[in-house]
Amino acid sequence: MGNFARFGREFWRTAIVAGAAMFCLAGQGQAQTYPAKPIALVVPFAAGGPSDTIARLLAVSMGQALGGQIIVENIAGAGSTVGIGRVAKSDADGHTLLLSHISHATTPSLFKKLAYDPVADFSPIGMVTDGAFVLVGRKELAAATFAEVMAKIKAEKTAVSYAHAGVGSGSHLCGLMLMQAAGATMTQIPYRGTGPAMNDLVSGKVDLLCDQITSALPQINGKTVKAYAVTSAEKVAGLDLPTVAASGIPGFKITIWHGLYAPKGTPADVVAKLNAALRTALKDPTIIKRLADLSTIPATEAQAQPAFLGKQLVAEIASWKKIIEAAGVTVE
Ligand code: MLT
Repeated sequence: MGNFARFGREFWRTAIVAGAAMFCLAGQGQAQTYPAKPIALVVPFAAGGPSDTIARLLAVSMGQALGGQIIVENIAGAGSTVGIGRVAKSDADGHTLLLSHISHATTPSLFKKLAYDPVADFSPIGMVTDGAFVLVGRKELAAATFAEVMAKIKAEKTAVSYAHAGVGSGSHLCGLMLMQAAGATMTQIPYRGTGPAMNDLVSGKVDLLCDQITSALPQINGKTVKAYAVTSAEKVAGLDLPTVAASGIPGFKITIWHGLYAPKGTPADVVAKLNAALRTALKDPTIIKRLADLSTIPATEAQAQPAFLGKQLVAEIASWKKIIEAAGVTVE
């Protein structure tokens, strides 16, 4: 073989090896330089509520794990759909994330039209927490037990006011289920999150609210509100309250899980880096203690995975569709 032919073969071999190496590096390049700037973690409800509380805990711990800063942004409105829609349309570079709870699964059945697809427009990162709701009333409400609250709703109907965080929010659904069980309608007052709703309950402007234990617990312990019953199938550790199911509405159950998402198209290695940071955060003793203090359950290692969250979301969209159709609720 002549020198020229050998040179040609060597040249092409080197070029192919270098090309393959560059291809591999390009695939990893995003994660190596990520995060390149502060990350916005969008909470689709107002500050001071349960989603906000969980997001702020996560932001500190995940930020440390990623070696960057995570800033919580409350983009509230229309039962979470404004904030969720904003993330769906954001750059898919891992610098805009969404912490969303069951409203991500309920709103497709409640709103005739959404500006985004909750499954197709997002890359799941992992489940974050699971928790129950608790029915709370203003301090002076003339009802001492859950049975008395239900009797009051049946007798006084729209004279009883119920605060919630907007159509499709957990508090809204919990209220709908209670009204369905009572066979009576309360006056519903929507807020941009249960943070502001709780403020109005504490100051006596509204009668009832079904809120996540995460942010209701400090008010219950401080005796600024009356607590009646929890919405999980089992009683909640650390809370001396009956379940709704054992207090006159057999089978009543509503729990609320939070998931972390990025816009669809976020590079797989960035999603993997975010998932690792999420799992690190969920093992952080500070987060474990804070969530335990708020009777909120952190996701297990198996739940804090993109595939788990993806499946959970699809399954919950289907099960909430049945519940919402049976309740006959739609929103224009
Ligand atoms: C809800 O009712 O869905 C939430 O509690 C809203 C919130 O996190 O503020």
